[in-house]
Amino acid sequence: MSNLRFSSVLIILFFFHTTSAQTAPAAPSGPTNITQVLEKAGQFTTFIKLLKATQVADRINAQLNNSNQGLTIFAPTDNAFASLKSGLLNSISSQEQLQLVQFHILPNLYTVSQFQTASNPLQTQAGNGGDGQFPLNVTTSGNQVNVTTGVVDASVANTIYSDSQLAVYQVDQVLLPLALFGAPPTPAPAPAPTRPEKNVRAADSPSSTTPVNTSGVLGLIGLRGKGAILSVAVIAVTASCLWL
Ligand SMILES: *[C@@H]1O[C@H](CO)[C@@H](O)[C@H](O)[C@H]1NC(C)=O
Ligand SMILES: *[C@@H]1O[C@H](CO)[C@@H](O)[C@H](O)[C@H]1NC(C)=O
Ligand SMILES: *[C@@H]1O[C@H](CO)[C@@H](O)[C@H](O)[C@H]1NC(C)=O
Ligand SMILES: *[C@@H]1O[C@H](CO)[C@@H](O)[C@H](O)[C@H]1NC(C)=O
Ligand SMILES: *[C@@H]1O[C@H](CO)[C@@H](O)[C@H](O)[C@H]1NC(C)=O
Repeated sequence: MSNLRFSSVLIILFFFHTTSAQTAPAAPSGPTNITQVLEKAGQFTTFIKLLKATQVADRINAQLNNSNQGLTIFAPTDNAFASLKSGLLNSISSQEQLQLVQFHILPNLYTVSQFQTASNPLQTQAGNGGDGQFPLNVTTSGNQVNVTTGVVDASVANTIYSDSQLAVYQVDQVLLPLALFGAPPTPAPAPAPTRPEKNVRAADSPSSTTPVNTSGVLGLIGLRGKGAILSVAVIAVTASCLWL
């Protein structure tokens, strides 16, 4: 008799336990949104614009929502973009802008300690570094992580975000890939930059023909406000002087 009563208590306890487990708090709401992560961190407005213009932001968000594939993103600060030679982003095609953004994304999750054992060159979304086109190497010392591309040496300044699928690191330089920005090794027969607009006169006003293609990223930025449009104009005039 007492045995039966004990069993009943166990069964009741079992159901109670099961029921309370089922009413446990639901998983955190919504998939991770890379734009929101970067907006919240501040100082990444140019990188966000590039991610949107190349539609990489949408692809990242879709991947974060639909797969368990890890991702690591190196996010250059606005200061990093500001220190680039003016007009640099517009001197490359939209396909190359896409490659530039993809070069900042690794198709695997790396924690800081995993960088310490990673083997160079790391694979990026711009391609395998093994062919020498898009090499991205990391060197570490304790928690300090440096990134070298063969064109620039950058330092990871900060972890902006990390979870079990995504890590976002702040870098102090735009990671310029060798394939797009590698300097020609020979200073041989004066390799003047070959630009179709090379013989255009210095622009007297922003409305005259200028070598800067504002339909690219800077054009997009220019839509944001009159100040930015003025900046584009100033950059355009400066650039045309330089290209003379
Ligand atoms: C991500 O956040 C941005 C900005 O807050 C928003 O415009 C966009 O619609 C969001 N994307 C998704 C997939 O929720
Ligand atoms: C995430 O994926 C689910 C299932 O594929 C889909 O129903 C949902 O709309 C997606 N959410 C976002 C924000 O894309
Ligand atoms: C300007 O850039 C856009 C996007 O980067 C490209 O599609 C277009 O062909 C370029 N136009 C010229 C004149 O270079
Ligand atoms: C990273 O770069 C900084 C600045 O160039 C340098 O002082 C430091 O020694 C480097 N650390 C590693 C691990 O390469
Ligand atoms: C990256 O590392 C590989 C392997 O150590 C090396 O062969 C290559 O020269 C390095 N590239 C750069 C740009 O540091």
